[in-house]
Formats: sequence, C-alpha cells, structure tokens
Amino acid sequence: MKTKKILATAALPYANGEVHLGHFLEHLQVDIWIRAHRMSGHDCVFICADDTHGTPIMIRAREEGITPEQLIGRAHQEHEKDFKDLLIHHDIYYSTNSPENKELCEEFYHKMKAKGHIAVRPIEQLYCPHDKMFLPDRFVKGTCPNCEALDQYGDSCEVCSATYTPGEMKNPHCYLCGTTPVKKSSDHYFFKLNDFKDYLIQWLPNHTQAEVSAKMMEWFTHEPLRDWDISRDAPYFGFPIPDTNNSKFFYVWVDAPMGYISSTKKWCALNGKSFDDYWRTEDKAEVYHFIGKDITYFHTLFWPALLKSADFRTPTAVHAHGFITLNGERMSKSRGNFISIRTYLNHLAPEYARYYLATKLNAKVEDMDFNLEDFQGKVNSDLVGKITNLGSRGAQMLNKNFDSQMTEPEETGLKILKEAQAACESIEKFYADRDYFKVTNEVRLITDKANKYFDDHAPWKLVTTDPALTQQVLTTTLNLFRIISIYLTPVLPAFSEKVAHLFGEKNYTEFKSVHTLIQGKTIQPYQHLMTRIDPKNIKSMMDEAKSVAEKLSALKAKAKTGTQGVTQVETKPTAENNGKISIDDFMKVDLRVAQIIDAEIIPEADKLLRLKVSLGEETRQIIAGIRSAYKPEDLKGRLTVIVANLEPRKMKFGMSEGMVLAAGAGGTDLFILSPDSGAKPGQKIK
Ligand code: 2FM
Ligand code: ZN
Repeated sequence: MKTKKILATAALPYANGEVHLGHFLEHLQVDIWIRAHRMSGHDCVFICADDTHGTPIMIRAREEGITPEQLIGRAHQEHEKDFKDLLIHHDIYYSTNSPENKELCEEFYHKMKAKGHIAVRPIEQLYCPHDKMFLPDRFVKGTCPNCEALDQYGDSCEVCSATYTPGEMKNPHCYLCGTTPVKKSSDHYFFKLNDFKDYLIQWLPNHTQAEVSAKMMEWFTHEPLRDWDISRDAPYFGFPIPDTNNSKFFYVWVDAPMGYISSTKKWCALNGKSFDDYWRTEDKAEVYHFIGKDITYFHTLFWPALLKSADFRTPTAVHAHGFITLNGERMSKSRGNFISIRTYLNHLAPEYARYYLATKLNAKVEDMDFNLEDFQGKVNSDLVGKITNLGSRGAQMLNKNFDSQMTEPEETGLKILKEAQAACESIEKFYADRDYFKVTNEVRLITDKANKYFDDHAPWKLVTTDPALTQQVLTTTLNLFRIISIYLTPVLPAFSEKVAHLFGEKNYTEFKSVHTLIQGKTIQPYQHLMTRIDPKNIKSMMDEAKSVAEKLSALKAKAKTGTQGVTQVETKPTAENNGKISIDDFMKVDLRVAQIIDAEIIPEADKLLRLKVSLGEETRQIIAGIRSAYKPEDLKGRLTVIVANLEPRKMKFGMSEGMVLAAGAGGTDLFILSPDSGAKPGQKIK
C-alpha cells in the first residue's frame, strides 16, 4: 500500500460561542477519520483554529466590557479544553488572529490584485454621523419590517426569523449611540468570482459530494457569478487591507479559511515539516475540509477560487455533513435544549457520545438526530452490555480461576477469530469512506458471534469439568475482545488504551495488530472499562441546559436595560405584564441621590466618562456613557440620581459601581436626572 500524506480540517469555530454538540459531531468525524487513516499507515495531520474576527466578536467583547483580544484569548482556552476532554486530537489548534494569517491575507491580496481579480467601487451603507462610522448590519437596531418586533438587529429578526437589510428596517438606529443613521457611500473591494466560473464548473463535480455539486451547479451555471465584497469599513476587528491606510479590513470570511493554511504553516514550523508539500503543490499531499452544509458556498465556490487566484493548491475534497437535532428538534438556547460540550461533560463521559455518534455517521449530507433514549439504549445494550461485558467476563474469570494466565485459543474458536480478522480490510475501507455506522455494525456482528461462542461454551460450568478447555475458551474470547477493541480504537481511544493495558501491550496504533493472536500471556487484573449510563445523568444534563438558558435570558434582559453605566429611562411593555412591575420589584432598586465630585475623560474611550460620586458616607466610581452629551467640567458638583445596588461591573477601564439615570435616545440626546435643590447625597429615593 502506498502511504498517503493527508491534511484534514474541521471548520474553525467562532470565538464568540461555545463548543456544542454540532461542533462535536464535525470534529469527531474528522478525528475518527484521521485516527483510522493513521492506523492504516498513512501520514496524517488534523488542523484547526478559532475563527476570531468580525462584527459579532466586537459586539460581544463590547457588551462584556473587555477587548476582542481578551475575548478570543478566553475562548481559545475554553475551546481547547472542551475538545481535549472530548478526546478530539487536533495536531494544532491555532487562531486566525495570528501573524502568519495576516501575512497570508496580504500575500493573497497582492496576487489577486496583480492578476486583475479585484474590483473597487463605491457602495452605499448606513452611517452613524455621531460615531463617524459605517454600521455593519449588526450595529443597526430597529423595528422588524415584517412583524414589527422592537429592538431587532439589522440583518434578521429574533422574533419572526425574517431576514432583511438594515435599510429596510423601521426606525433604524445606531446600536452604539441610538442616533438615526444616514446613507453614505464608500469604496469597497470586490473579488471577481466570475473569473473562476469555468474552473469551478469543472472542479465541483470531482471534489464535492454529488448532492453538493448538483446544488451548486444548478445555482450558478446559468448566470454569471456575482462579485464578492471582501472588504469591511474600519473600525473592524480583523486585518487591514494593504493600500487602504487602515480604513478597510478583510471581511472575516476571507481570513477565516486562510486560517487553515496559516495554522498549517505554524504546525510545520513547530514540527519541522514542509509547508509547500501541503499547500503549494497538488502531488505531494491530499487536503480535505470537513464542514457543515450551511457553509458549502464559502468552501466550494469562494474558497477554491481564492486559492486558485493566489496560486495555491485547491482541496482534494470538501466533505459536508448535515445538522444535528436533539430529540428531533433544532437545538436552541431559548428552547432550553442547547447542549454545550461543558454541559454534556459535566454529566456524561465523552466515549458514550463518541460511540453513539459513530453508529450514525455516514458520508451523506443528511441531518442526524441525537435521540437521548436511543443514545442510552445503544450505549447500555451494545457498548456496555455486549462489547465491554465480553472483555469483563473473560478477563475476570481468567483472573480468578487461572491466575490471569492465557493459553492458546480453542479449536472451534479459531474459525471465529479468523472471520474477525478477515473483517479488517472492509473496516478500514468503511472508515476511509466515512461510513462509520458500517464499522459499528460490523463490530456488532463480531461481538454477537463472540458472545454466542462464550455462552455456548458456558465456561462458568465448564470450569468444573474441564479447566484446560475453559482456559482455551477464555483465551479465544479475550482475543476476540482484543480484535474488537482494535477496530474501535479510532472511536474509543481511551477505552482502547485500557484494553491494551489489560493485555500488557502498547497502545494500538495499527489495524494490522489484529492479525497477531495473543497466547500464553499473563493479563492484568481487570479494571472497569465502561459503566452503563444512568438515566439520572441524562436528566441532570438536560436540567443544566435549561437552567443555563434561563440564566442567559435573564442576563440578556438585564443587558438591554442600558450600556456603560447609564440606564436609559424607557419602559418596554411585554405581552405578559403589559409593562407593569410590582411594587416589590420596584422596591428592590436602590435609587439614591449622588453628588458628582469628579468627572474625567477616558482617553481610549470616546463615549465614556469616569465619574467619582459621593453618597454621603461613601464614594463610588461609575463609568458612564455620557461623554457625547456632557463636558466633565459641567458635571462637577452636580446632584444626580443613581442605581446604588447594582452589582459592580468590571469594565476595560476599571470598576463601575452603579448607574447614572438618564433620559433620551443616547448620543447628544441624553439628559441625566437631578433632584430638586436641597436633596442630600446618599438620600434614598422612594
Ligand atoms: O460557520 C462557522 O462556524 C465559521 N466560523 C466557520 C469558518 S470555517 C473556515 F472557513 F474558517
Ligand atoms: Zn452611533
């Protein structure tokens, strides 16, 4: 067999979200594939990174009062730990916010430009005259043009799911300051995708699944491919486009897939490998992208065209998979059925889900349901009841009755052993074809035969009449168990390590180890390999998911009451309460008269002022977003009203220990409240 050099990637998870079951499905698909190819003797590498740029990251960081760099640093640690605890092994888990990636974006840009694949022309966008910036869709809020829901983002409605452009919204306003935006035009950079139409027409059918290629071809063969806007206006968390004096940045979907290449570059540098072998030529290595079906456009149109335009190789294949549902429903935080990996791992072992997902994974683009009852059933009856039990029954009897000593396999058992060994080739092929469900089916057949063999010989009875034959039966059984464990190593790496330890062997790294039978060995005392899933743990996992969802929605509601230390006084009626709160609720808010004793500008933040306020006995610092409406010197000495019992918030520029109350839409339209003269600092407002 010729050894292949294989590079595989999973789509890069966004740094502003948690790793969830959907990511698990995809990364597991690659992890199993790479582990299996390695066991077939190929030279493999699994590359991944966090996708760190773009507007949602900026918004999230802003809402948390931290920098985007802090946000992506935290996410990186969490994501890496989540994958490690799932036994997903990336050879590198890097970041798109890296010097290698920046350099690569620039290299691509210069090549594309030199070859005439870039067009520059103005486009009209919403612009905030107060913040002096173009507003990406997510920076515009307003009323949904479809269902009239208030306070929706500029691209889609969270209530009715309609999608639209910010210009179509009613009452659009700037997310940052509340000002009504105006339309303004600016130059944007476009990638001329149509230059690659002919290339894509011949590339698609040979490098993507039939259903993907058919869909793509139907979509674009009859009309020219539209130019793709690869630029975003500053400020943007990403890499500046050369020649633009930092006024334009690469759109996140340009530098994200480049993360595949730059992470390879980093891995090569760390491991003394040749980068060019992977990305500059097509004949030395194979490159595979595993992705969800929602991002096929990016990976099967834009990405091969970008690579071609810059003289890089294009992927050997793009493997798309479907979505995952939980008990037949799409997972969503608001529904309370969103299972983050941390939530899963807080209650269940990683190999339960690895096994269950493997029993369902295939090479098609179809959706997959994670059905909790089926999950429990398959793990408990097949993985524990049949597979693990085979090993535990055989090993424990050998430990107890034969001083852990194996002998040679029994005559009739040899036939079953040969059949089990003969499955090796097809199992390797099922793995290579990504038909993991066929692997687990085949393994189940072998396991059934092995259990039948064991039960037919009833060694627990046989031992009283023919100990020597019993020892042979146990040796046969344990060899079958060993073969099964080797076949399942890519799916159950930790389980397989424990089995290797039981037999006093090194970890299984080759499928061909199944062809050696072990005999005359002393095995180790049996230690538990796997226990049944207790349904209580599934329930507690779902309870946790629900409570996380509840906490989140409470936090979201709280976040909407104001940003940066200012509560804008407005009431938003909800369907349930018609906008009313109980007197008890109102009494929880500790409103106090405060005197502003100092106010200063924060040089790095053009919307914030740092206030020192006196509550009589006590002085507090409040960071308030009122700089656009007030000069510091006008505030000194003034009385105002603050919320005094708000949890202190750690912001980038220090702690904020309260909120100043103000009326108005924001920006210059902002008026802080003042009590009549005579009020004293610290007095409670009732
Ligand atoms: O859809 C997503 O989750 C993206 N973060 C995937 C990026 S894949 C690649 F292009 F980087
Ligand atoms: Zn604004």
